[in-house]
Amino acid sequence: MKKDTVLVSGGAGYIGSHTTVALIEAGYDVVVIDNFSNSEPSAIEGVEKILGRKITFEQVDTCDKEALRGVFERHEFSTVIHFAAFKAVGESMTEPLKYYQNNLVSYMNVLELMKEFKRPNVLFSSSATVYGEAEVLPVTEQTPRQPATSPYGNTKQMAEDILRDCCAAYPDFYGIALRYFNPVGAHPSALIGELPRGVPNNLVPFITQTAAGVRECLSVFGNDYDTPDGSCLRDFIDVLDLAKAHVAAVDRMTQHKMDAKYEIFNIGTGRPVSVLELITRFEKANGLKLPYKIVGRRSGDVPAVWADTTLANKVLGWKAERDLDDTLRSAWAWEKHLRNL
Ligand code: WQD
Repeated sequence: MKKDTVLVSGGAGYIGSHTTVALIEAGYDVVVIDNFSNSEPSAIEGVEKILGRKITFEQVDTCDKEALRGVFERHEFSTVIHFAAFKAVGESMTEPLKYYQNNLVSYMNVLELMKEFKRPNVLFSSSATVYGEAEVLPVTEQTPRQPATSPYGNTKQMAEDILRDCCAAYPDFYGIALRYFNPVGAHPSALIGELPRGVPNNLVPFITQTAAGVRECLSVFGNDYDTPDGSCLRDFIDVLDLAKAHVAAVDRMTQHKMDAKYEIFNIGTGRPVSVLELITRFEKANGLKLPYKIVGRRSGDVPAVWADTTLANKVLGWKAERDLDDTLRSAWAWEKHLRNL
């Protein structure tokens, strides 16, 4: 049976590009849009090389409602996956309006046009950041959200609530929010991966740039947390597994299998890994030594967060499968590809 068409906003981004590949491999038709504000056309080329064919791509800014309307007029699709957003926590603290403007206006445009054009399914990229410093670990979808500690985190919480309210109010509106933990790794082809601009904020890109000699030394932010080795604990989820979770969620929506009009799923591995352990695993998996030093804690970091993935495992029929060592090898292969090493 022919599968639906999916609109992917922000499809040239890190998670968007891997999800585009996974959707097309699963038999979906995909329309990708991106304004390249934090991504590069090379990601689209990488996706096309992996798939061995051209994809439907339009350079459109989702904040430009009339341009976005054109996409709805030109293409039939039942489902949107809305990735297009800024994601740097620190930058959102110094430039909150940039975050509220971009992340909320683009989202509102997508939702309003979905309603106007009677396109029923919205899949939203949320984040484990909504849990803040949870009292009980691992976190389930029922774990209360903590007040957001950054404008970035606030846009995720607000977007979840807006989707919930739309699903409650409009009969033909269905929503899924996927709460991602820490996405890492790259496509095994090394043709697409994460493309941080400037100094990376996230751990794995900083590790790979340090291994490549672009950064002198990795700083480990704190080894005095109340955790087994004193460094923070996170749930590092391979971006390929994460991409497959989107396919499972789209299957669920387009096959009308949802139990409620709005559903939330944690997308992680369910396994906590410490920052120091990740460094050691990276070194062993890739046969190299990383220069690193322990420095003070980074403000805003929670000591530990990892997912209870029972709901996604049972209801979406999805499970993280990639081995962390393979993931860390893929991250290094991607960095080497970028640097021609
Ligand atoms: C992981 C751990 C750092 C860099 C953030 C966002 C979240 C989501 C993913 C998405 C922490 C430590 C890091 C370094 C280090 N956002 N670290 N040295 O903070 O868990 O989550 O990214 O778009 O919403 O909050 O991820 O990779 O920044 O940090 O020691 O140079 O690595 O302190 O413990 P985080 P991260």
